[in-house]
Amino acid sequence: MKIGVLGSGSMGSGIAQVAAAAGHEVVIFDNHASAMDRARQKLQEVFDLLVEKGKLGREEATAIHGRIHFADRMHGLRGVGLLIEAIIEDLTVKKAEFEQLEDVVGPDCIMATNTSSLSIAAIASACKRPERAIGIHFFNPAPLMKLVEVIPAVQTHPDIVAQSVELMKSWGKETVVAKDTPGFIVNRIARPYYGEALRILEEGFADAATIDWAMKELGKFRMGPFELMDYIGNDINYTVTETVFQAFYFDPRYKPSFTQKRLVEAGYLGRKTGRGFYSYAPDAPVAEPLKNAELGRDIVHRIVSMLVNEAADALYWGVATRDDIDRAMTTGVNYPKGLLLWADELGVSHCVETLDRLYEEYHEDRYRCSPLLRKMAREVAKFYE
Ligand SMILES: NC(=O)c1ccc[n+]([C@@H]2O[C@H](COP(=O)([O-])OP(=O)(O)OC[C@H]3O[C@@H](n4cnc5c(N)ncnc54)[C@H](O)[C@@H]3O)[C@@H](O)[C@H]2O)c1
Repeated sequence: MKIGVLGSGSMGSGIAQVAAAAGHEVVIFDNHASAMDRARQKLQEVFDLLVEKGKLGREEATAIHGRIHFADRMHGLRGVGLLIEAIIEDLTVKKAEFEQLEDVVGPDCIMATNTSSLSIAAIASACKRPERAIGIHFFNPAPLMKLVEVIPAVQTHPDIVAQSVELMKSWGKETVVAKDTPGFIVNRIARPYYGEALRILEEGFADAATIDWAMKELGKFRMGPFELMDYIGNDINYTVTETVFQAFYFDPRYKPSFTQKRLVEAGYLGRKTGRGFYSYAPDAPVAEPLKNAELGRDIVHRIVSMLVNEAADALYWGVATRDDIDRAMTTGVNYPKGLLLWADELGVSHCVETLDRLYEEYHEDRYRCSPLLRKMAREVAKFYE
């Protein structure tokens, strides 16, 4: 099957590389010729590096690279069996492209969007045959990140879901199916990793270095929340939180933080600008954590309980299955453990007590416990029996 990719930015070129590595002929089209030139150059560099590092033989790299073609007009996408759209995150633009593309790609083509935050139903509604539209959400960088979220819209035909899942598996991806809800699985459930860390910082319980130390050293997360926000970019991370917050009708659980907003306004975007929560100047002093085990355990327990609550709530509202929720967080954002499994290990009632204690303290809806978690605590139930 020939694959079409619309948009040759970071995601589009990464997705094209994955599809070509899986043996497909791929056609990319971008409406900015300069973006296609950059993608061509970037792909050349990527394949050279893979050969240099011994990850690919020269012949294999040349063969994969040779399967990626750039079209100079949208009509170059004619005949593709799957089209993945990865253009700017703008609903009006995406809908206009879907409407136009439908006449280009032919009646049997699966039309997928890689959107991170828009409604798949809204994008699909631009099609005359919305039943073939679907969300196929890759993570950045697409060739390295294992996870793909497949998101059917209300209009999507079940066969399209099954075909998309099979295809992504054949590309070597861990594939989970998510309901068309804000943030899908990962970008929803991960919010407290940043939000609760920011809250602890703002309340002055601990500084960024101490929270990062606790989450890495005691929580076994690969990166602490603040170094991760600096790595992702505070502008990007803040926008995702704000988008999820708005999409959930301003549910206080996802309320963004002024602290992070001010950093964005100041241009302290993180690594890419040399300064975020930390300074990345060559002579900057290293921020030293306060390695207090009791404080560290409290921090980990508070953040993990909030994450568990999100995961349980996503399960409660049918966003995804138990296994897909746990797999999404371990393969999409490299959490050390699935959150529902973690809840079992900590004890569901222990998580409920922590959330209730926070709720008692603040009387904020942000700390409300998921009905599922409370019911399970009452019944002394586990997610994995
Ligand atoms: N960057 C990420 O971490 C990430 C992760 C998952 C999903 N996404 C989603 O993937 C999509 C693309 O993100 P990105 O980071 O690759 O963006 P990007 O800005 O790197 O690339 C977007 C590309 O789309 C092109 N483009 C814009 N409008 C177009 C149009 N009408 N027709 C054809 N090409 C057009 C631009 O020229 C640009 O090259 C967005 O929907 C984003 O939400 C991004």
